[in-house]
Amino acid sequence: MIDVADRRDAPAAAEAEAPKVSFRGITKLYASRDGRGRTLALDSFDLDIAPGEIVSIVGPTGCGKSTALNVLAGFEQPSQGRVTVDGAPIEAPGADRGVVFQQPSLFPWLSVFANVVLGAKCRGVARQDYEQQALRLLDEVGLKGFESHFPYQLSGGMQQRVQIARALLNQPDILLMDEPFGALDYQTRLLMQKLLLRLWAHFRPTIVFITHDVGEALFISDRVIAMTKRPGRVKLDVRVHADKPRDYEFLSSSEFKELERELIVAVQSEVEAPEDRLTQNAEEAK
Ligand SMILES: Nc1ncnc2c1ncn2[C@@H]1O[C@H](COP(=O)(O)OP(=O)(O)OP(=O)(O)O)[C@@H](O)[C@H]1O
Ligand SMILES: [Mg+2]
Repeated sequence: MIDVADRRDAPAAAEAEAPKVSFRGITKLYASRDGRGRTLALDSFDLDIAPGEIVSIVGPTGCGKSTALNVLAGFEQPSQGRVTVDGAPIEAPGADRGVVFQQPSLFPWLSVFANVVLGAKCRGVARQDYEQQALRLLDEVGLKGFESHFPYQLSGGMQQRVQIARALLNQPDILLMDEPFGALDYQTRLLMQKLLLRLWAHFRPTIVFITHDVGEALFISDRVIAMTKRPGRVKLDVRVHADKPRDYEFLSSSEFKELERELIVAVQSEVEAPEDRLTQNAEEAK
């Protein structure tokens, strides 16, 4: 476990090979939502992610987690700094980065199958080049037999499975997941976490996963990053050593308990910290 103030113990995998993803000195300044001021969402955000790593990000609400993910997705441009994938700067969204959002964001008038293949179709991929893969993916996520159903006929967990199948259809190198299981009940979340580990074992994408649930982060991840409150930067970077795929016994292991406590303290101390940096933002907005 490391505190980023001391990088001597920095995670081995991220240092041993060229990172898949690299955030370097990312600052993101938004015009505030009322248009009258500015919000510094990220400040000096640095993070390297190794190929095939699963990295979860936890942190107080509003600390810039989605902003970091959106910059990597290419939906937002940083105000300063560079985000690279395989050393190349991100300029726009791309099929190499699949995104799964908290809300399923499926088209209600399209069937499950049509939702999954829509992106491929829009990019002009021939049907024979995506059809079998889409059916196989729907099978992998447990939706065989539901191909012709419409989103309203599915539970929340099933709709998230459709989103995941859709994201995986492009065979993305990187899967970006923003609180993908946040709206699901506890039992379904556990099932989805196991499903995600199974899919990872099969496709080996690099995964960046945002959650408020430290236990969820530890269950699925190779590393968990805790962010400071806004403006967000990396506060704590811990490695989870237990072998993947993990089972529920991991939840009662000493490694899980120790890391869980460490991360909860790191995040809560930010949530409960005095408002100094937020006050600075308000000053800046004047
Ligand atoms: N498009 C935008 N325009 C203006 N401000 C924004 C925009 N997107 C985010 N912000 C602001 O940037 C800050 C960080 O927002 P962000 O959504 O990244 O936080 P978050 O860590 O994902 O929060 P949560 O845990 O609640 O999802 C917040 O103060 C938010 O209001
Ligand atoms: Mg968010």
